[in-house]
Amino acid sequence: MIIAIDGYSSCGKSTVAKAIAKRLKLNYIDSGAMYRAVTYYFLQNNIPFSKTADDVVTEYTSILENIHIQFIRNEQTGQSEIYLNGKNIEVEIRQMDVSDNVSYVSAIKSVRKKLVVMQQQMATMGHLVMDGRDIGTTVFPNADLKIFMTASPEVRVYRRYHELIEKGIKVTPDEIRKNIELRDYEDTHREESPLRKPDDAIILDNTYMSRDEQVQFVLDAVAKLKKAI
Ligand code: DC
Repeated sequence: MIIAIDGYSSCGKSTVAKAIAKRLKLNYIDSGAMYRAVTYYFLQNNIPFSKTADDVVTEYTSILENIHIQFIRNEQTGQSEIYLNGKNIEVEIRQMDVSDNVSYVSAIKSVRKKLVVMQQQMATMGHLVMDGRDIGTTVFPNADLKIFMTASPEVRVYRRYHELIEKGIKVTPDEIRKNIELRDYEDTHREESPLRKPDDAIILDNTYMSRDEQVQFVLDAVAKLKKAI
């Protein structure tokens, strides 16, 4: 079974996706972490990229060949963690410099092409839950279940702020709000696979829902699906 969860930044996609994966014994893949890993590599290696659609274009093919991304399970936490060229970069990819640039890097056609192929290959290893922006539209257009998540901007800022503070990352609510607004705009306006609700997705607006209610919402959708088969 493939479950695709798409939606805006900071509306709790990964929290729900992880819980569903655990309940249904599926693999969980955070596709946003993969775009963040490429962005981190670009920043570390001073690879130029454009912040406007029609600005400088670099040939990225050979650069992308040097980028190797893996998810490896942390036996202590039970969570899978992202590695870039053999180094664990779970903490690095959540820093604000990555968040502030990831929408630009993820708009690059060759970056998307490479990551979409990798994501599709992950499905050949079995059943999975993947969250992101184009999972139900581009990566797995035939996913068994598609969920499109959304929440009010205020709730998203509040949740992301607390999540980062808990991880020890210094930010202000205002920085978070600006970053979320920027990414919403860039993610929905880019030329390549912009964020949009897949026509056959179920909307999950979790503004007033607890984590358990959201998980139950998706489990109910899976149960309905199984009945229908
Ligand atoms: O899920 P996230 O906030 O960690 O994602 C980081 C960025 O990566 C997001 O602003 C847009 C990009 N992204 C994407 O373009 N396509 C995906 N499938 C997942 C993320």
